[in-house]
Amino acid sequence: MLAQSKQTVSRSPRDEDKRPQHIAVIMDGNGRWARQRGLPRVAGHRRGVEAVKKMVGDCGERNIPYLTLFAFSSENWNRPSTEVKLLIELLYSTLENELLKMHEHAIRLRVIGDLGRFPKRLQKKIADAEALTKDNTALNVTIAINYGGRWDMTQACQSIAKEVERGTVQADAVDAELIENHLATSDLPEPDLFIRTGGEKRISNFLLWQLAYTELFFTDVYWPDFDGDCLDQALDYFAGRERRFGQTSEQVTGVA
Ligand code: FPP
Repeated sequence: MLAQSKQTVSRSPRDEDKRPQHIAVIMDGNGRWARQRGLPRVAGHRRGVEAVKKMVGDCGERNIPYLTLFAFSSENWNRPSTEVKLLIELLYSTLENELLKMHEHAIRLRVIGDLGRFPKRLQKKIADAEALTKDNTALNVTIAINYGGRWDMTQACQSIAKEVERGTVQADAVDAELIENHLATSDLPEPDLFIRTGGEKRISNFLLWQLAYTELFFTDVYWPDFDGDCLDQALDYFAGRERRFGQTSEQVTGVA
């Protein structure tokens, strides 16, 4: 799982300070990667899994503690059924093949999304994987499947509404923190850096609430080709950003 990769960019201590704690990724371009090579789309997804394994290792090497990957959106059910089946099978086999290696490397795995629509055996595999790795702290890998930002906010609202109905929460007590506590990502920090491969410049219903102040990095590279050098480009971009969270530049830098 933790493939060794050459780190070609050396980082200064200052860069270390400006390293994201949480990277969220839309892994786009698998189909086009395959088409460019005259291969079926599924070949792109298979290579996409290899890129996932590499990315996990690359984040581990760079001390990035949280990585969240969008592997299957709520809208992906609309793809041809053979492709949907293949994606589900890839998720299952990747969990089956990689779980023990992840556990050995103290990686904690979480899966977020509306899992009820997936085959029971995948749901069980996910539950077992989460239980096995729950005390691991080296790297937190979260896979979003049948996930959508609107779904997440909707399920959070429903859950809060039920608490209000039961009288355990007062309507006036509903604030941003309470909403965050009901999102599927409640035990993750907000993403600092969002990466989308494959050339599109969209959020595509990913972590809509959570990306409010995230730095956005888009690259034309197709996901199967995304490697440690591409990650370092994204990290360099992030290190150059001034994160103001609504304040002025002078407030953030302390320079009048
Ligand atoms: C987008 O490329 C990619 C997906 C919809 C699936 C991503 C899934 C994987 C990389 C494999 C499974 C992941 C894990 C974590 C085991 P696309 O098919 O939309 O590409 P295109 O835009 O070029 O057609």
